[in-house]
Amino acid sequence: MAILEELFDLTGRVALITGGARGIGLESARLLAEAGAAVALVDRDGEALEAAAADLRAGGVRCLAVTADIAEPARLPAVVEEVSDWAGAPDILVNNAALVQRVPATELTPDMWRQAMAVNLDAAFELSRLVQPGMVAKGGGAIVNIASIMALSGGGFYPIASYHASKGAMVNLTRGLAMEWGPLGIRVNAVAPTWIRTDFNRAFLDQPGVSEPLLASMPLGRFATLRDAAAAVLYLCAPAAAMVTGHVLPVDGGYLAH
Ligand SMILES: NC(=O)c1ccc[n+]([C@@H]2O[C@H](COP(=O)([O-])OP(=O)(O)OC[C@H]3O[C@@H](n4cnc5c(N)ncnc54)[C@H](O)[C@@H]3O)[C@@H](O)[C@H]2O)c1
Repeated sequence: MAILEELFDLTGRVALITGGARGIGLESARLLAEAGAAVALVDRDGEALEAAAADLRAGGVRCLAVTADIAEPARLPAVVEEVSDWAGAPDILVNNAALVQRVPATELTPDMWRQAMAVNLDAAFELSRLVQPGMVAKGGGAIVNIASIMALSGGGFYPIASYHASKGAMVNLTRGLAMEWGPLGIRVNAVAPTWIRTDFNRAFLDQPGVSEPLLASMPLGRFATLRDAAAAVLYLCAPAAAMVTGHVLPVDGGYLAH
């Protein structure tokens, strides 16, 4: 096999991706599948999920769609079990699904705060714990957490306290699990993308006067693309990153170089 192919070969691997119905999750699934992985997409939006899965299958991808709300911890063991029964225990976990609450800190209710933590942080932790024994049994695995540049900076463009806190915690969870599970052959890394125009933030970015200062803050002068973010996910899951763990890879157009 050519060296490049070998570095990015995921043949026989099973990837579980949350928030896989669209956006970064779906694009990551496409790239991981192109590298040879079977991809299990988990999303609460069943309709979009089935459409995404059908599209991937039409392209020859081995794909499973699991409709689930990852904010419900009691649902998560069955999700991992369904994926494992389908294609074997996951070798790859991409913790990607998240929510953002653009609300001033003084107006965030305790319930809103808990909901943000449940989706953005608790589910990533719970799923990581659930896939860990299977990865250990297989001799290793790769976990990639989708954080954000807002995990690494205060990003004072708008009020998103629960997002800053949950994504920041995700970054240090990444480091902690990398330390704890490195000896077991499990690599844990994070990707920190800058703004990408997706359903996640399109309405916000399209407000007058919002995009210009954001673009001006990025040395490369553009928003990221889905491909930019998914390429980082692919790298961190692939043999190319076999010696990389506990790191956060910003895909930020230079934003954090300020
Ligand atoms: N778009 C950006 O600018 C940007 C920048 C930095 C980081 N991120 C991060 O990238 C990740 C993906 O963002 P995106 O832009 O692709 O978003 P998106 O809105 O396009 O897709 C997110 C998907 O997650 C699913 N989801 C949300 N909550 C869920 C839940 N509780 N259970 C199951 N599925 C759920 C949604 O249904 C949706 O399909 C998020 O973690 C986000 O914080 C996005």
